[in-house]
Amino acid sequence: MRHLAMATATVLAGALALTGCGSSESGNPSDGAGLSVGSAYMPQPVSDSMAAGFLVITNKGAAGDALTRVTSDVAGEITVHKTVGQTMEEAGRLDIPAHGELVLRSGGDHLMFEQLKRKPKEGEKVSVQLHFAKTSPITVEMPVKSATYNPKTGH
Ligand code: CU
Repeated sequence: MRHLAMATATVLAGALALTGCGSSESGNPSDGAGLSVGSAYMPQPVSDSMAAGFLVITNKGAAGDALTRVTSDVAGEITVHKTVGQTMEEAGRLDIPAHGELVLRSGGDHLMFEQLKRKPKEGEKVSVQLHFAKTSPITVEMPVKSATYNPKTGH
């Protein structure tokens, strides 16, 4: 009797595991499968000490995540800024909703690179690491565009 009960429990556990797998579209949330980064660029900075960066993080997963920290070898500090009217203020963590996206674009929210260690030039790439609440960090090679680059017109 004892053995039979164990076998039944094992079969049930197996069935539950399969159900759990089938209902999740995001895969393992820690492998980064749910998040992807696109439209990344940095306008060539006019300042010696500061630069802005833009990108879109898309979440195809069924679970929400959040951008918690951004690092790069070109800047001593990188924060996310929200644009509020004519001024900007530092945002803490930014939510990336399930089946949604976090958009950082010109005129809106952006990455603020401060304490630049070198001045990125047009044509170069800046390596940026994005850290999330759940997903493993993602490294983005952010192309440096002209100072007046507009992604809508391409120049
Ligand atoms: Cu800013």
